[in-house]
Amino acid sequence: MRALLVEKSESGETRAAVQQVDEARLPAGDVTVAVEYSTLNYKDGLCIGPGGGLVRNYPHVPGVDFAGTVEASDDERYAPGDKVILTGWRVGETHWGGYAEKARVKADWLVRLPDGLDTRQAMAIGTAGLTAMLAVLTLEENGLTRDRGPVLVTGAAGGVGSVATTLLAAAGYEVACVTGRPEQETYLRDLGAGRIVPRAELAEASKRPLESETWAGCVDAVAGDMLARILGQLKYGGTVAAVGLAGGTAVPASIVPFLLRAVRLIGIDSVMRPYRDRVWAWERLARDMPMEKLEAMVEMATLDDLPRLGTEILQGKVRGRIVVDIRA
Ligand SMILES: NC(=O)c1ccc[n+]([C@@H]2O[C@H](COP(=O)([O-])OP(=O)(O)OC[C@H]3O[C@@H](n4cnc5c(N)ncnc54)[C@H](OP(=O)(O)O)[C@@H]3O)[C@@H](O)[C@H]2O)c1
Repeated sequence: MRALLVEKSESGETRAAVQQVDEARLPAGDVTVAVEYSTLNYKDGLCIGPGGGLVRNYPHVPGVDFAGTVEASDDERYAPGDKVILTGWRVGETHWGGYAEKARVKADWLVRLPDGLDTRQAMAIGTAGLTAMLAVLTLEENGLTRDRGPVLVTGAAGGVGSVATTLLAAAGYEVACVTGRPEQETYLRDLGAGRIVPRAELAEASKRPLESETWAGCVDAVAGDMLARILGQLKYGGTVAAVGLAGGTAVPASIVPFLLRAVRLIGIDSVMRPYRDRVWAWERLARDMPMEKLEAMVEMATLDDLPRLGTEILQGKVRGRIVVDIRA
């Protein structure tokens, strides 16, 4: 099979290149999948490069997501010919992932492709889109309604941000997008952004723990100082769904917005998310994601493009979603 293999030299340097790899080297698992499409997430950028501490063993095949057709199965839930999606479960980190023509995984990790999506669309959504959906569901479960005011999306031109913007706008919310790339304004407005907030406006934590009540909720892919700042701008009872850390892990926040405005900060994890939640989120995505908007955020790539794109996503240069056509 063709695969993007990351090898590590004795001096500790990693090198990623497309190679012919014997299928007998696939890891243990109950289901073998002929991979049709994969995608590129921030985490994939780390795993294509030096690994960021995520990859345990080399040589390694990255790719945290894939979609394809079951080729062989030892599990009664799946049969050859079934269309399946895999996201998370540390596949592409500790287990060989989707950047190969074949993948072998545990049946428990798979979900069936929902009606209404093909494998390419599923990967246009990918982990980034599944996470965005889980974040929007969490905001709604915590009282977000359309009449409460604007919802903020940070890291908006990235993968999670693009899908979150689209889902919120399609559901009728007023969406404000934080971006550090002013040249992406038209792109974001086409996805449904009503307002663009330059990253510099929120980049520094404020000395004042409370600012004027502005946002009904937030999907935050950035964390760092920006998250601390946003907490002080949430409306009474507002929620931040925290999905990412593109701006840093330390959040120098004040407790005051939690105590005086009853704000909530809720972490979103898509990697170990239980099966039932995944099925529900994929069904909502198949139903609610406007497919023409999804298409507008997609750039196609091949396995050979991944070493370059892996570097670019870590530099915040990738826009929207990259779909990798494994057979191209
Ligand atoms: N919790 C989970 O299960 C889960 C799942 C998927 C992803 N994530 C995390 O979510 C985050 C986004 O993932 P992604 O795949 O959407 O990545 P991405 O496509 O690279 O998007 C990240 C965006 O964040 C913004 N950004 C980058 N560096 C920044 C900085 N220093 N300060 C402020 N903003 C910055 C950029 O948006 P603009 O150019 O528009 O400013 C960038 O496009 C990552 O941290 C990822 O690890 C978590």
